[in-house]
Amino acid sequence: MENKNVLEVKDLKVYFDTEDGVIKAVDGISFEVKKGKTLGLVGESGCGKSLTSKTIIGIEPKTSKATGEIIYHDSKEKTSTNLVALKKNGPEIRAVRGGKISMIFQEPMTAFSPLYTIGNQIVENVLLHRTKDKVEAKKIAIEMMKKVGIANAEKRYDQYPMEFSGGMRQRAMIAMAMSCEPELLIADEPTTALDVTIQAQVLQLMKNLQRDMDMGILFITHDLGVVAEMCDEIVVMYLGKAVERGSAKDIFKDPKHPYTKGLLRSIPVLGDRSKSRLESIEGTVPIPINLPDRCGFYDRCEHAIKGKCDVKPVSITKLSESHQVRCFLYEKED
Ligand SMILES: Nc1ncnc2c1ncn2[C@@H]1O[C@H](COP(=O)(O)OP(=O)(O)O)[C@@H](O)[C@H]1O
Ligand SMILES: [Mg+2]
Repeated sequence: MENKNVLEVKDLKVYFDTEDGVIKAVDGISFEVKKGKTLGLVGESGCGKSLTSKTIIGIEPKTSKATGEIIYHDSKEKTSTNLVALKKNGPEIRAVRGGKISMIFQEPMTAFSPLYTIGNQIVENVLLHRTKDKVEAKKIAIEMMKKVGIANAEKRYDQYPMEFSGGMRQRAMIAMAMSCEPELLIADEPTTALDVTIQAQVLQLMKNLQRDMDMGILFITHDLGVVAEMCDEIVVMYLGKAVERGSAKDIFKDPKHPYTKGLLRSIPVLGDRSKSRLESIEGTVPIPINLPDRCGFYDRCEHAIKGKCDVKPVSITKLSESHQVRCFLYEKED
């Protein structure tokens, strides 16, 4: 039977050994991305989202140590590969990265070199992963540039990244990521640097391409407002752990974790002038080093129970088939 999941992350941990102790940047996270569906990974800056995504495609810092499993199911080749076990920067991961799994970032200049034309860089990726035919590769590149809404694609093909506006560069990066028809797209804060109108266009574009290609998307953002439009399922991450996980409906209609509720309160309401000041969660995400054995959100939680939340780590409580939470408030007594 064909696997519906394109990616399965199982108990992934990404640690850094330092002189001062171990930084547990990602600490046992699990999720699946389904074919044709979008999973949102949400949390404030410093929660471990980017490190998770970098570890999937093997571009995490050399000093980090990853354990657990990242299973990639290739539906064309009918193979399953544990990406964690692959040699760093070896031929296997390089065949996957940019071809079968593509990534787009907040800052397109991390994907493009300023020294080569946009067209050249897209073609190079196509030649690496899809065809050896240069004429065909150029055709694919131009077609993709048109598909992402770059007007005059033939002319813009020969332009350099600096000749593109921010929004257009973002589109070009999406064109490059899509040019090899990936089975999985990882989008790490893809629209954070864009203004609201362009952001909406880029999100719509990603949804259209997803529908055409039956691609799975891992959508990473600090902004729960953006995931409302995009995601089928959501994992809320705090201090390297999933604190809540559910369908978009679970998270938006019936959020449980105090952290999720805090994130929801900080979404600006369009057109609502009565909310002049945005509520946000007090405090900041600490650096996950030498953390005590307790709920990671304890210091910032308005519902924290002394003697309970601060004495041992919290385990996951299953609320329904789709909905899970890691919080003592919902832990069933045994
Ligand atoms: N090279 C590194 N060395 C040590 N710690 C790191 C390194 N890269 C990231 N971290 C730590 O990992 C944590 C998560 O970072 P990151 O994945 O970038 O978070 P996010 O994308 O959610 O903002 C942070 O606490 C950060 O300090
Ligand atoms: Mg990040």
